[in-house]
Amino acid sequence: TPRPRVFSGMQPTADSLHLGNYLGALRQWVALQDDHDAFYCVVDLHAITAGHDPDDLRRRTRAVAAQYLAAGVDPERSTLFVQSHAPEHAQLAWVLGCITGFGEASRMTQFKDKAARQGTEGATVGLFTYPVLQAADILLYQADLVPVGEDQRQHIELTRDLGGRFNSRFGEVFRLPQPHIARATAKILDLQDPTAKMSKSIGGAGLVELLDDPKRIEKRIKSAVTDTGRDVLYDPEGKPGVSNLMTILAAFTGTTVERVQDDFAGRGYGDLKKAVAEAVLATAVPLAERQRALLEDPAELDRLLARGAEKARAVAAGTLAAVYDRVGF
Ligand code: ADP
Ligand code: NA
Repeated sequence: TPRPRVFSGMQPTADSLHLGNYLGALRQWVALQDDHDAFYCVVDLHAITAGHDPDDLRRRTRAVAAQYLAAGVDPERSTLFVQSHAPEHAQLAWVLGCITGFGEASRMTQFKDKAARQGTEGATVGLFTYPVLQAADILLYQADLVPVGEDQRQHIELTRDLGGRFNSRFGEVFRLPQPHIARATAKILDLQDPTAKMSKSIGGAGLVELLDDPKRIEKRIKSAVTDTGRDVLYDPEGKPGVSNLMTILAAFTGTTVERVQDDFAGRGYGDLKKAVAEAVLATAVPLAERQRALLEDPAELDRLLARGAEKARAVAAGTLAAVYDRVGF
């Protein structure tokens, strides 16, 4: 029997992934490679929905691919590619857009949040239809599982709705995917505002980028907002800042928040932050070194991505041909 399919992607909209991207997504991707047939994509089409600089995009697309590899994505076992190299994504998105309700798309909370930040006039049609493109990304590969953070749950729901709608209207083409959300690390919070998720679109001192200067990573962790009281207790409601730090420490040291709480009995927030900084740097520093080494040979990286695109398109073209046939093209 074939191994279950996995699809996921990240946008090349920053020079570094942050703690949330790593713990919520990329780390799961690496683990899933062992017994899944995985497709990992740098979703550059998604990166132009809110205004961008072409040179930045080109640089960041390679940087994100190198990030995947540096974190342990194995191009021999997984298909690693760039979204714009496979035109089938945009082609399927058009078809899916034509079975998506305007009201249905208007209910996407990420769109509402991002549009609110950009102002109604500033938000593009591309930002609005982004979840439809994301549905196309996933459905093209007949994915069973989509490893993502909690913020993507609604988009995976939409993906299932659109796939199911197409299947019942035109005949079975798509497998309907399940979100794969790591419960413990589904929503890493901003270190300065632990009521909000850590996000590159919010940025600021509450964001910890893994490829950042180690000194700054340490500084940001040490100046994380903590809660009143002095005890290191896991209480996401009452102590969101401390609980977030405990979650991060547990994830990086391969333990549970209960164990962290036991270990820190009788110790304070300062000790906790020191341990978090150490644990994060133990992963971040070698990750950055590997990424830098990969970026020293862009031609090799491009060759690898071209090979990935070929493998991806072999699957994507088959799905798109079936879709076009069913639709009447
Ligand atoms: P961002 O949300 O920072 O703009 P992306 O949209 O490129 O980043 O997200 C890439 C992946 O990282 C997605 O699977 C997303 O769910 C996950 N992710 C983003 N932020 C967090 C977070 N704070 N906690 C857990 N996972 C996250
Ligand atoms: Na996101």
